[in-house]
Amino acid sequence: MSEKKADRGKWNSKLGFVLAAAGSAVGLGNIWGFPTQVADNGGATFILIYVICCLCVGLPVMIAEFAIGRHTRRNPVGAFKKLGSGWFPPLIGLWGVMCGVMILSFYLVIAGWTVSFIFEEIFYYLGWHGASAWVSDLGNGPKNAFFSILFMAATIGIITGGVSNGIERATKTMMPVLIFVLIIMIVYVFTLEGSMDGLRMYLLPDLSGLNTDVFFSALGQAFFSLSLGMGALLTYGSYLRKNQNIVESATYVTIADMSIAFLAGLLIIPAMFVAQNAGITIIGEDGRLFSSATLVFDVLPGLFKSMGGAFGLIFGTSFFLLLSMAALTSTISLLEVPVSYVIDEHKIARKKAALLVGGLVLLVSLLISFMPSMIDVFATIFNNIGLPLGGLMLCLFLAWFWKAEHAITEIEQGYEGIHQSMVKPVWILFVKYICPLLIALVLVTTLYNLIF
Ligand code: TRP
Repeated sequence: MSEKKADRGKWNSKLGFVLAAAGSAVGLGNIWGFPTQVADNGGATFILIYVICCLCVGLPVMIAEFAIGRHTRRNPVGAFKKLGSGWFPPLIGLWGVMCGVMILSFYLVIAGWTVSFIFEEIFYYLGWHGASAWVSDLGNGPKNAFFSILFMAATIGIITGGVSNGIERATKTMMPVLIFVLIIMIVYVFTLEGSMDGLRMYLLPDLSGLNTDVFFSALGQAFFSLSLGMGALLTYGSYLRKNQNIVESATYVTIADMSIAFLAGLLIIPAMFVAQNAGITIIGEDGRLFSSATLVFDVLPGLFKSMGGAFGLIFGTSFFLLLSMAALTSTISLLEVPVSYVIDEHKIARKKAALLVGGLVLLVSLLISFMPSMIDVFATIFNNIGLPLGGLMLCLFLAWFWKAEHAITEIEQGYEGIHQSMVKPVWILFVKYICPLLIALVLVTTLYNLIF
């Protein structure tokens, strides 16, 4: 038994684990997803609802994923198989693994774009306008394929290093750099003309846009941004030591993710208004701010160009470097789930498993590279439906089959005070009733909106 545990690997330090999980959470969802959702959904009103979703649904589910992972010391499929009996429990895990694989396949293409834009900035600075245009064409299949392969190679490289030497070391280095670059960029954007208009739009609540959709967008965003619902954090939890406080760690990860999303908004929204000040269009024909791909890969590069010279170069490359790093710590976690599944269940060595699974995911990515319009379809199916469904099944399984009391017995290791604390009854109430109810509501509404 102990030999098997040694094989699976463990986090080296408490901070290393928190940073790795925060690295998984902080990604493209924070830096381009969150700010545009805020702009689209009523500014500060959305922020408030988002915070409530993260704390009331995200945090309890994250604690649940960590507890199941650490208790079973397995990948999602093995974990549910170990806790339940019959054919259904492993299916919950398998659903997660599949969603992860599909999310990774399109995430990789977007991650590839973030790297290709580092080159775009450099080529533009050098005056190689042809090369700059080639590398920045989002519909350029061979170019997309090349950068997806590059990104997958980096992800596989880190994963093969193992849990503490690969994932922990890489995220521990990248996360502080990411925060540093982000803060420097915010400070700089604030000195530019037009940024205060953006700040106003970001921070002033606009109640006129408030409707039920806002609440549902916020919950979906919370799931994706916190990396929940497919067993990524369950897998990270399976490498946890028993003396680590799960509740405390989950709280840190949630707060780190929310804070970085908030900081990203402080950068992106004011930057858009600076771009508008420089003559770049930021509002579409429908009267709404441009979102996601147009914003990040069109408006912002336009802004960097308008800055001109070395300044534009430094600012532009730093921004896309920031995005690439955020994406890399997330693709690591997405790939780690199917890799740990293959290692645990099929007894294949880590390096071989990473190459095998990574290669298979890459095949789907290559297809998407040539047909980027598939990204929206994949995102709808696997993010908007797949993740909440996974989260719902996880809560129901934990609360009604494994039983919340057993989870508490796991959580009390590393957190003895839980029995005297309000955390215990509150968490049980949320994981048993409130989270499943809210998630079911989102799911039904998402499906309803899709169909009608
Ligand atoms: N949370 C990441 C982001 O915000 C994406 C991500 C990484 C993810 N791992 C995940 C999403 C697992 C869902 C499940 O970009």
